[in-house]
Amino acid sequence: MINLNGMKAFAEGGNRKCYINPNNPKRCLKVLHEDLLENLQKNSAWYKRLGNNDDLDDNLRERKAYDQKAIRSPIDSSIWDHLAKWYGMVETTLGPASETELIINEGEISETLETYLFREGLTPEIKKALSTFEIWLRTHLVLTKNIIPHNVVIKKDNGLLILKIIDGLGSKSFIPLPEYSKFFAKIYVERRIKLMWSRIHWDLTGRVGNWK
Ligand SMILES: Nc1ncnc2c1ncn2[C@@H]1O[C@H](COP(=O)(O)OP(=O)(O)OP(=O)(O)O)[C@@H](O)[C@H]1O
Ligand SMILES: [Mg+2]
Repeated sequence: MINLNGMKAFAEGGNRKCYINPNNPKRCLKVLHEDLLENLQKNSAWYKRLGNNDDLDDNLRERKAYDQKAIRSPIDSSIWDHLAKWYGMVETTLGPASETELIINEGEISETLETYLFREGLTPEIKKALSTFEIWLRTHLVLTKNIIPHNVVIKKDNGLLILKIIDGLGSKSFIPLPEYSKFFAKIYVERRIKLMWSRIHWDLTGRVGNWK
């Protein structure tokens, strides 16, 4: 059991709080927000009735997402170029945590693509990073939910910017055709890339109207 009591989260999203693993500073521990966990437990009767619907719990969904074909039987080791590694679930004093590779640059936690874009805009460096990322998505056919800039962080490597997905892996479609068919996976990934750009432009133009 890892003790996270009294520790400060380094970041948080809508669903989870992120801590540096006190036993391994290169790893990140993500726990569900207290109220989310409580609600899940409180409503455990219907939670079970639904057949343990994993989709209600971001951490369980993550486990499934990392088990997708592209990652389970990768073409080659470049599958990890744009993904934070996943180390499974561990028990903490704040509940079960998903343990992942913490993306850092010389001791500092990497910033998100969103933070970068808001500050710098679409620089040639980030355009290059996005283009490399797109090629990787098409090569490996990694299934993601919509790629939102706050779910991607930037690793720096010898002056190059490298995008890493830290949240939002997995398939969005209800019937998981892209998981079984390369044909559907290609269509699915192209759609995610298109929507990623749509979201980036929406972010950069004051978030007016709908981005989808
Ligand atoms: N492995 C990581 N390395 C560096 N920073 C990270 C990592 N994982 C998460 N973060 C930071 O923590 C924030 C929240 O994490 P995450 O997106 O996993 O939480 P979430 O609650 O599931 O998000 P959402 O609101 O998208 O559902 C990220 O936006 C990012 O800034
Ligand atoms: Mg997130």
